[in-house]
Amino acid sequence: MADILKYTFLKLNGGVFCPEDVILVSGGSKGIGKSITAKLLEEGATVVATGRDKRTLEEFAKTVNNERLFVCDIDISKTDEMDDKLSTVEEEIGRPIVALINNAGIYGKTQFPNCTEEDAMRVFSTNA
Ligand SMILES: NC(=O)c1ccc[n+]([C@@H]2O[C@H](COP(=O)([O-])OP(=O)(O)OC[C@H]3O[C@@H](n4cnc5c(N)ncnc54)[C@H](OP(=O)(O)O)[C@@H]3O)[C@@H](O)[C@H]2O)c1
Repeated sequence: MADILKYTFLKLNGGVFCPEDVILVSGGSKGIGKSITAKLLEEGATVVATGRDKRTLEEFAKTVNNERLFVCDIDISKTDEMDDKLSTVEEEIGRPIVALINNAGIYGKTQFPNCTEEDAMRVFSTNA
């Protein structure tokens, strides 16, 4: 993990990305993640943008229309499904994912200590 962070940090601070740099941006089709995806594509990287909403991801890919952008519907709270989905997208790209921008996250509907256990677990399983 430390190597991946160092690699991404160095590349973002003046390094030049190339298409072999396959970077996964979780929550990469909305909000801050969407901007990160756009910037990485502009800098020359290949990007895998993920999220739960397949339709939003597909519309995003259509709008961006960049052959270095791949989308994949992954729910990061469902760790048991992740390996299969990541293997499939890596096969599609033909290269391994070398870095992760762990952007996806949610806020609870209510603040601690007034939150329900269900809401707290939903936030924890997504953000942790
Ligand atoms: N905006 C702010 O002011 C602010 C401030 C501090 C920290 N942050 C943090 O910065 C990050 C991005 O914020 P944002 O404002 O850009 O959020 P956002 O617009 O709500 O976008 C969140 C992204 O995460 C994805 N996502 C949520 N739950 C997911 C899950 N279980 N599995 C996979 N993808 C999931 C969403 O896609 P789907 O809905 O399709 O799954 C969406 O693409 C978050 O971690 C947030 O906590 C934001």
